[in-house]
Amino acid sequence: MNSQQALVSRLMAACGGSYTPEIRRKFFISGPQWAAAYEGHALFHAPTRPAISFEEVIRHYGDLGIGHWCTHDTDVIPTEAIGKPQQAEIVGRIQAALKKNDVKCSMVTTETFHHAVWAASPAAESPEVRKYAQFRVENTVDIGHELGASFAVYWPGSLGYYVQGAIEETQTLRWYAEALNAACERDLKVAAQRGRPTLKHCLEAKPFEPQAEILLPTSDAMLAFIASGLLTHPEMVGLNPEYLHELMWGGAPRAALARALVAGKLFHFDINDGYRLKHDVDIGVGLVNPLDWLNVLVLLRSHGYNGPFNLDYKPPRTTSQFGVFEVSFPTAIDRFITLWEMAGEVLTDPIIKEATDALKAGGGYTGDPHDADAIVAANRELLTLHELIAHRLVQILLGLHRGRTFSIA
Ligand code: GLC
Ligand code: MN
Ligand code: MN
Repeated sequence: MNSQQALVSRLMAACGGSYTPEIRRKFFISGPQWAAAYEGHALFHAPTRPAISFEEVIRHYGDLGIGHWCTHDTDVIPTEAIGKPQQAEIVGRIQAALKKNDVKCSMVTTETFHHAVWAASPAAESPEVRKYAQFRVENTVDIGHELGASFAVYWPGSLGYYVQGAIEETQTLRWYAEALNAACERDLKVAAQRGRPTLKHCLEAKPFEPQAEILLPTSDAMLAFIASGLLTHPEMVGLNPEYLHELMWGGAPRAALARALVAGKLFHFDINDGYRLKHDVDIGVGLVNPLDWLNVLVLLRSHGYNGPFNLDYKPPRTTSQFGVFEVSFPTAIDRFITLWEMAGEVLTDPIIKEATDALKAGGGYTGDPHDADAIVAANRELLTLHELIAHRLVQILLGLHRGRTFSIA
């Protein structure tokens, strides 16, 4: 085992191109407890890695230069201990671990999908389930303030159904809104008591899983929900889009992010990668769609997005516990930073700038403004620049503008 680990470490070092923990800490990168603690299990998969404590995860994050940590309530507190004295003891241990490793808690989220109590969703018909859901989101707000978080995330993946007709969708959405309203009310109260800003409450969509049909399957559906009139504090609620969750339904993640940006609702961003129209494979950022990722970061950089980049991916089952921190996390962060740097290169690239400026200036046509054919003719050669820009982006991504030779003498 030691020589296998030495081999992995030697080849990792040989890869080069990694950033120091100090540089990594300059970015608002967060690492979820659940990502590092993922044991490799799934419906068809037995675990491949052992359990790991939050103390260990936070220590590794600090060492790697991941400056922020986030968690579900039940990642760290057993369901039966929530709201009980044991919760305060655990939260105290979390605070100590964060302090010791110079890591901050950025975000907290309520698990409303795993436990049997959520079988019919947090907005179930049963009033006691809904009351319990309100208790859980309010309690998460309390934990968030206690840990110094700025964001709360809600992934209503269990808000839907397998078999049709038993639930009435408008009613379920109203009930779901009641839970969010309770969280916002609680937040206003606790924030005022503590003299802290309120949290940013972020809805996260996923088009399929774990329900068969989902009531809020996309970020766009959530924007409509926020503006529906059902929320008492819509200004406190925005989005946490996840890159892959938009790709999964066949959407263009960059376009989904653009719609969130123009609505002023891009609060938080889960970064990962995967494939269109497949299940939630949660692959590390940039391993599948680096060109699209470059373009996403160009968009976010040019709009001054300053929220968290949350590493919501799952280290593959084939990666060992050692590999999770030796290879999986550092390479994910470093691909992100490299793509971020490339996005900066794109934004200052003189060729892309000149091409974009020329396109925006148009053909300078001053004839009849209602003559469509003449307008086409006046812009004809300019539009070739779309393909030239696409080529230039690939050149920057692949380093082709710096020259590439392998077998040419
Ligand atoms: C679950 C989802 C993940 C989401 C998180 C936050 O872990 O798989 O995508 O970001 O919950 O609630
Ligand atoms: Mn996510
Ligand atoms: Mn996912």
